[in-house]
Amino acid sequence: MRRGVLEARGIVFGYGDEPILNGVDLQLGDGDVVVVYGPTGSGKTTLLLVLAGLLKPWRGELYFMGQPMDGIRARRYIGIAFQNPDDMFFNSTVFDEIAYTPARLYGAEEGRRLAKEVAEKLGVAHLLDRPPYKLSGGQKKLVSIAAAVAHGPRLVFLDEPTAYLDADTAERVIQLVEELRGGGTAFVVATHDLELLCRLQARAYRLEEGRLIEGAPQPRKTLCLCGQGSA
Ligand SMILES: Nc1ncnc2c1ncn2[C@@H]1O[C@H](COP(=O)(O)OP(=O)(O)OP(=O)(O)O)[C@@H](O)[C@H]1O
Ligand SMILES: [Mg+2]
Repeated sequence: MRRGVLEARGIVFGYGDEPILNGVDLQLGDGDVVVVYGPTGSGKTTLLLVLAGLLKPWRGELYFMGQPMDGIRARRYIGIAFQNPDDMFFNSTVFDEIAYTPARLYGAEEGRRLAKEVAEKLGVAHLLDRPPYKLSGGQKKLVSIAAAVAHGPRLVFLDEPTAYLDADTAERVIQLVEELRGGGTAFVVATHDLELLCRLQARAYRLEEGRLIEGAPQPRKTLCLCGQGSA
């Protein structure tokens, strides 16, 4: 049986008086990949921040690796790539951004090695000397994902990981997720990208009225191909 990585029971959270999350239940084991989709503003980003221990739920129970979630203790086992990468960058170079956590956990040399390795996999090795804030939107996405996974976490949260990425570049992200899940890393991915959802062959949940409802989205009826519109 797979070991439990994350368990959420009856999570309720909001920013003001009204809850955004209103009774979220979720379980993840080693190597599980869960994709959360749902309308703009439904609370996907909020859900990831709560599950990662960055926002404290009003009510409910959250367990990480069998223990009540303690955001600080869990930090070394969790990686998160924010929807807006600028919210997480705080180093002067891409290299330092990616190497920061692994260097703190495993020492400078190992941090360098791990940062270079993941930068190669995601195709951002040529950007290592650049300031993160001067990258393109898609390059920032890749760097934020590299920084989230470089230290080998047990659980990774990816918020809209393929935003700004062309199909070939998105493929690198998919390959990385496949490789890491094979090694036991669990993922929670928030996305509007239905192709990503299909490709990951993940457990899919729609976030609706603050709850997670299991099941993939219905395919859209119309497909618009340039130059092939209906007469
Ligand atoms: N820090 C905040 N303070 C107050 N309200 C917030 C905050 N962050 C988000 N919200 C509100 O909470 C709701 C859920 O936002 P959230 O970003 O979680 O949605 P989302 O599903 O990720 O949307 P998107 O698809 O656009 O990424 C929205 O109505 C948003 O305006
Ligand atoms: Mg969001």
